[in-house]
Formats: sequence, structure tokens, C-alpha cells
Amino acid sequence: MRIGVLTGGGDCPGLNAVIRAVVRKAIDEHGDQVIGFRDGWRGVLEDAFDELTIESTRGILPRGGTILGSSRTNPYKRDDGVELVRATFARRGLDGLIAIGGEDTLGVASRLGDDGVKVIGVPKTIDNDLAATDVTFGFDTALHVASEAIDRLHTTAESHNRILVVEVMGRHAGWIALHSGLAGGADVILIPEIPFDIDEVCGLIRRRHERGRYFSIVVAAEGATPKAGTMTISAGEVDEFGHPRLGGIGYRLEQEIEERTGYETRATVLGHVQRGGTPTPFDRVLATRFGLAAIDAAHRGAWGKMTALRSTEIELVPLSHAVAQLRTVPAEEYRRYGVLFG
Ligand code: F6P
Repeated sequence: MRIGVLTGGGDCPGLNAVIRAVVRKAIDEHGDQVIGFRDGWRGVLEDAFDELTIESTRGILPRGGTILGSSRTNPYKRDDGVELVRATFARRGLDGLIAIGGEDTLGVASRLGDDGVKVIGVPKTIDNDLAATDVTFGFDTALHVASEAIDRLHTTAESHNRILVVEVMGRHAGWIALHSGLAGGADVILIPEIPFDIDEVCGLIRRRHERGRYFSIVVAAEGATPKAGTMTISAGEVDEFGHPRLGGIGYRLEQEIEERTGYETRATVLGHVQRGGTPTPFDRVLATRFGLAAIDAAHRGAWGKMTALRSTEIELVPLSHAVAQLRTVPAEEYRRYGVLFG
């Protein structure tokens, strides 16, 4: 077979581990040829690729990022997008493509599948917000980075009696905020799924002061929003998939909390630090398992499917299920931890 591979959307630790596993098994076990498209769907549209060999993918398992590059290109934003994808398939004699991505990249893969293009999906994202898989690789690494940062901020918050706001990633889903906040013993956790009331946030912080704890840690997902009419926030520019560029709620909270409580408050925005660097062992293993399963799925002709972790097993699920809706934090799960706040 001739198989294409691409990585699309925001990068995350573990992408290279998938690429390596696909290439190893495709070449050594199936006798395939593999090409890697540059920068996500852009490489397919522009026919920009590199041959991938066992040699060219050696040593990449622990490396963060993606050797293929990534972008947020959306073929459906162009009238000739699907035609260009088909033309590249024909020119390169491709039997199919393995698309490694999150909601947007896999959303495109699912639509292309409906348009007759042979694609298999592999789910990645630090946000852990894809339905149909218990977890995506990249999340565990991001969680480690965020939790370690919160631990470090804790000690300096305590020394200076400050309120420290930590803004973590998570556009629509608060998994990173919730889990890193729980792991780091945060006093307030704000997630996109549940609009927050700034009065309640300040109330929790004041209560800690009354109880003799003069510092607090507030973990906020970048997509956390105040209840309508309670606090102003600014909107950012949007990408090809219509997502606004976020980042900013941390600094708004810093201002607002300090003004309302009179306690010295500082914000730290973790940003892309959470997406960079070497993957944790958990993410390396999950990514490797997904890669091996994806190339086997291609040989079974399981086009239109996505690899998924269900309990401890890797399964194949329809791509359409994975992108039908986001896996967000259920309100009851968030509320269960309320007793730990403040
Ligand atoms: O989807 C993963 C993610 O890291 C989100 O948490 C974040 O909102 C977004 O990507 C940032 O994207 P970019 O790097 O394009 O600004």
C-alpha cells in the first residue's frame, strides 16, 4: 500500500510517537510506502510531502512537536479543496491517509470520508475533549506541566501572601483546569462549561483569609467565561475553523480579584508551554498503540474510522461519532469537587 500521514491542528506531545509507530509497522510488517504531508491539510492541498522511512523516523519517539509540521488549514474553506485532495491522492498513488488531529482535523477527515476519500483518524489534543475515546494523548503531558507549575506557584503564593491566578489551556473543555487544579490543590477552578460568578470567586478567597490562609491559587481555563453581565472580557481574532484566539482571562481575573478584594493578585499564563516538550510515558505508549492500530486498520480497509481507547483496549470507532460533539466536563463532576474550593 501507499499511505499518507499528516498531523493537523494544535501540536501536542506524542505526535511523533504515532508517526514512528505507523512507519515502523507499515514498512517492516506490511511492506508499505509511507509519505508524510507537510503542515496538516496544507500539505495535501499543495502536494507538499516527504517520504517517511525507518531511518528518517528514528529517534523521534521522545520528541515533542511533530516532524511533519502542523497547521489549522481547512480544505473546506476553499471551493476546490476536495478536488485538490483527490488530485494529490491520484498523483501520489495513495491507497489512503492517516490523519492525526483533534476536532477540526478529524472533522475534515470525517467530511472527506463522506466525500469518498479514504481516511483513518487518530485522536490527539491536550484538551482531551474528543468524544468516542476515553482519553487523547497529549493530555497527560499537559497535565503534568500544569500541575508542576501550580506546585511551584503555590510556594511563592504562600511566601508573599498573594492570590495567584494560573491560566491553563482549554478552549471549550475544562479537563486540564479541573485535573491540574485538583492535583495542585487549587482553591478555585474555573472551566468553560460553567460560567463563573466573580462575586463567588472573591467570596471563596475572602473565606480563606478569614480562616487564616492569606494566599490562594485560582486555576482558570482560557475558555472560562463570567456569567453574563458580571465582568467584561475581550474577544480575539478567529482561525480557519472559526475558533477565537483565547488567552486573557487570567489577566482580567488578576485585575478584578485585586480590585474587589484588595488582596495582591498576580496572573501566570502557561500557554504553549503545556503543548511543548517531551511526552510522558503514558502519552508515548498511547500514541504508539494508536499508530500501530491505525496502520492495521488501513490494511483491513477500515476507512472512516478512528482509533480510540476504551477502558484498556484500543478500538475503532466511526470518525463521525468522534466529531459529533465535544467531550466536556459534566456539571455534576465539577460540582462534586466544590467542597475542596476556598
Ligand atoms: O486545541 C488545543 C489548544 O492548545 C487549545 O487548548 C488552545 O485554545 C488552542 O489549541 C491554541 O491554539 P493556537 O496554538 O493555534 O493558538
